Amino acid sequence: MGDFLSFTGRHVFVAGGSSGINLGIAQAFARAGAQVTVMSRSPDKVQQAADGLKALGAEALGISADVRDPAAVEAALRQAHAQFGDIDVLISGAAGNFIAPAAELSPNGFRTVVDIDLNGTFHVLRLAYPMLKKPGASIINISAPQGVNPTMYQVHACAAKAGIDMMTRVLAMEWGEAGVRVNAIAPGPIADTEGMRRLAPSPEALRRATETVPLQRMGTLDDVANAALFLASAQAGYITGVVLPVDGGAALPGGRDMRSSYTPREAA
Ligand code: HXC
Ligand code: NAP
Repeated sequence: MGDFLSFTGRHVFVAGGSSGINLGIAQAFARAGAQVTVMSRSPDKVQQAADGLKALGAEALGISADVRDPAAVEAALRQAHAQFGDIDVLISGAAGNFIAPAAELSPNGFRTVVDIDLNGTFHVLRLAYPMLKKPGASIINISAPQGVNPTMYQVHACAAKAGIDMMTRVLAMEWGEAGVRVNAIAPGPIADTEGMRRLAPSPEALRRATETVPLQRMGTLDDVANAALFLASAQAGYITGVVLPVDGGAALPGGRDMRSSYTPREAA
């Protein structure tokens, strides 16, 4: 079974791994001994990310590719496979997002987000499948609470993430017999990320986003990375097909905050 949360000698491939939450995940695996490949569009960002992973003591590779381009994704996977061998852990987290009312969203705006998040995840998973370690590989898709909770001005991202949640469950069923587990993480509001800069662009919006979290704080990159380490580990060996919220309880059903309506009985 190996040491708890040790990934020494394992190959971890992170699509969209050059910044934010996904880079935090890549760094956690690097610290845990893995050989890490990060892939995203910007050659500068992937190079910088790979250099940072090497500074943590890991063997690392940065490859530039757009998840919307299946041929480029396949070439990136082949290059990583040639360097580090079968993929033990595959993270699919490339995403794009912006706030836009549906009535003002162009067909290309909707298509762009679905192409990156949902179609991109399919390309990454489908093309990586022949290169996964079987049995034993673990796939983790990066979803969002919006895959379940309808959110105004997010029809594009909500639809894409809901699709990712269902893809997670379907592929957990199809690939289970090969010994491949497929799960997802749905991070809540994570501090100091591009996602939050876009979705909560003012101090007031940030304050409101935090207020609605039962644990009363924003999440950290480590909060998400720790969940990824666990889901990918042997200790999670019987867990597949789940979308794990890492959100301080933000997506709990119901969700209406009653604190301002409550008066203690003795004061009433
Ligand atoms: C309305 C917009 C828009 C905006 C772009 N578009 N920004 N529409 N409001 N703010 C439209 C454009 O007008 C265009 O449509 C179409 O989208 C494609 O735009 P491009 O700029 O050509 O696309 P591209 O260069 O491919 O860039 C993709 C991108 C960009 C998503 C638009 O923002 C990006 O690269 N984002 C990556 C980083 C990112 O978003 N990180 C945060 C992830 S956070 P027309 O019709 O004009 O051609 C996240 C949080 C999840 O995902 C939580 C909620 C689910
Ligand atoms: P981020 O820093 O912008 O991360 C997005 C990553 O995806 C970057 O590395 C980006 O690099 C890459 N990427 C974007 N488009 C791509 C494409 N077409 N092909 C390949 N790579 C692409 O944003 P983040 O906020 O950390 O979000 C990371 C993940 O967490 C996303 O899946 C997001 O939906 C999810 N999430 C975030 C939050 C939050 O609070 N931030 C909450 C819920 C879910 P390039 O620009 O180099 O391509």
